[in-house]
Amino acid sequence: MGSPTDANVVRPVGNTEAQVAPTTTRSSVNATLLPNVYLAPMEDVTDPAFRALCKRYGADRVYTEFVNADALVRDIASTTRKLTIHDAERPVAVQIYGREPEAMAEAARIVEQAQPDFIDINFGCPVKKVAGKGAGAGLLRDVPKMLEIARAVVNAVHTPVTAKTRLGWDEADLHPRVNPLNLNRSVSFSGLSVQRSVSASGLSGEAGRESTFIVDLAEALQDCGIQELAIHGRTRSQMYRGEADWTLIGEVRNNPRMHIPIIGNGDVCTPERARECFDRYGVDAVMIGRASFGNPWLFAEIKDALNGRHDDMTSRRYDAPPRSMAEKVAVLKEHVERAIEWCGNDERKGIIHSRRHFAASPVFKGLPDFRQTRIALLRAETVADVFAIMDEIVEKWGND
Ligand SMILES: Cc1cc2nc3c(=O)[nH]c(=O)nc-3n(C[C@H](O)[C@H](O)[C@H](O)COP(=O)(O)O)c2cc1C
Repeated sequence: MGSPTDANVVRPVGNTEAQVAPTTTRSSVNATLLPNVYLAPMEDVTDPAFRALCKRYGADRVYTEFVNADALVRDIASTTRKLTIHDAERPVAVQIYGREPEAMAEAARIVEQAQPDFIDINFGCPVKKVAGKGAGAGLLRDVPKMLEIARAVVNAVHTPVTAKTRLGWDEADLHPRVNPLNLNRSVSFSGLSVQRSVSASGLSGEAGRESTFIVDLAEALQDCGIQELAIHGRTRSQMYRGEADWTLIGEVRNNPRMHIPIIGNGDVCTPERARECFDRYGVDAVMIGRASFGNPWLFAEIKDALNGRHDDMTSRRYDAPPRSMAEKVAVLKEHVERAIEWCGNDERKGIIHSRRHFAASPVFKGLPDFRQTRIALLRAETVADVFAIMDEIVEKWGND
């Protein structure tokens, strides 16, 4: 991986005309006849170091961590750094979040200078510091504002704009009802897209028709010009608790009025579950979050299981997944090195940044009498110590 300085951080202003990335439509996605498996956006996780590994093992699209629109507009260095993109990881989406249409549009223009393939809008973050301030999942309670943001961003850039959201705000949104988006004709802004979404919710023409929140929301976002929609199968109230519910994701995908690709997300941890999500719910892509921690080769395992290795047909090349513990540990070591590089060659910072991956990696799951070694691994602060413990693990437990 190159250093942050040789990446496409922010290109000179005035270059916004150039990069119109290929538009994805449902038919173009399906034409590949191959499942698309994406790396979910994750704060503090999906930096260029981790994205590079996921890409190597077959992630068909990677997303940046979410980027605060206001901080981008204010040109905060730690935020603009998140726009670092390397050509090798394309296609890549930069995700932004915020609560004001103007700031989001301005942020999207700034993001476009970094030339991502997609600009994604976060309408799903449940944490208080985001949703509580009316951004992320907070917009699930103010759909007119959400649609205003979607339109403002779409109109501000040439890059395809996608969005990621949840099933709704709380349990009530999971059940069909009349006008689930709470849109009415007296909304203070007007426009074709809103009127159409009002129609979808049964207020005009089909009086009394019931629909679920996410089905109507997806249509409304499509009408705003959103080109793909990722849906995490939980409500905001659920945060990360309970099981992701894919039935409503399938309902959105199978709604005949939907024409844009639908990306399903939530609890996909194995190739078997990924296959089930494609087969049963018909989604155009699955998006993997937590199961990728310390496990970037999961993408290759999923794709191998679904397709066999079709690299040559598709030119979507990826490395075979590591099989032995020693091979897997070698990938984790490489991640540590990349993380340190990403952290400005600050060894301690890079190691702390990688710990989440050691803690969750399936490589170390279920090893007998592993507790003390695990504690030592999660406490180590130098590369020499981390690598020595990893070598010891392979020696002691890696007889495969
Ligand atoms: C540590 C962490 C950070 C996350 N950050 C983001 C984010 O920046 N943007 C976003 O849209 N979702 C974020 N998410 C949610 C994930 O993208 C995904 O929707 C969620 O984890 C469910 O998928 P999974 O079950 O495959 O993990 C985050 C999740 C985790 C665990």
